[in-house]
Amino acid sequence: MKQLQEKIVSEGRVLSESVLKVDSFLNHQIDPVLMDAIGEEFASRFAGSGVTKILTIESSGIAPAMMAGLKMGVKPVFARKSKSLTLTDHLYTASVHSFTKNVTSEIAVSKDFLDKDDVVLILDDFLANGQAVLGLLEIIEQAGASLAGVGIVIEKGFQPGGKTIRERGIRVETLANIKTMENGKVEFFEEATV
Ligand code: G4P
Ligand code: NA
Ligand code: NA
Repeated sequence: MKQLQEKIVSEGRVLSESVLKVDSFLNHQIDPVLMDAIGEEFASRFAGSGVTKILTIESSGIAPAMMAGLKMGVKPVFARKSKSLTLTDHLYTASVHSFTKNVTSEIAVSKDFLDKDDVVLILDDFLANGQAVLGLLEIIEQAGASLAGVGIVIEKGFQPGGKTIRERGIRVETLANIKTMENGKVEFFEEATV
């Protein structure tokens, strides 16, 4: 997605060879015009997939999920993160380990908002090691719901998450896929031309 790539180049900051800061439009301040275009792009890529629900994780997945939900006419649900869970009776839960932050957190979704009749589109802001997506897949499995695919705003294609998820035969649509951030410069994989 050209507009997103340009935004990453103009406003993103490469903090190291593997960390990209995008606080001015995605992770802290949010650019609603860009988010609108992102929602439209996900809606068009997953049109005809029969999606009934979007599933993301708080907090940075919520903005793109909200806009995609608006365009697709379905409700986004975000998994909540919490340190320790009690009273899990009415919850689907999974553990998500962040290699980046070296913490494991429990994520939870109420059984009220996801069930076996749902066709779920997973959306998230970043795909790095894929642990967040794996946690969301576990929750979908517990619900007995079906999966339409995974949509990612920014994939760091040099990290293993994309491969891990695609190897399971899951459709992953990435709006900007970064090939390298060496020497402080972001380079993208070519976009597939349809
Ligand atoms: P993984 O799910 O792909 O395994 O990701 P990982 O554990 O490595 O990432 C942990 C958190 O850091 C996630 O946000 C993820 O979106 C974010 N992240 C990973 N790589 C980058 C990066 O290069 N730049 C930025 N800005 N974020 C990155 P989170 O902890 O869930 O926080 P939130 O922002 O959603 O609240
Ligand atoms: Na995230
Ligand atoms: Na994040």
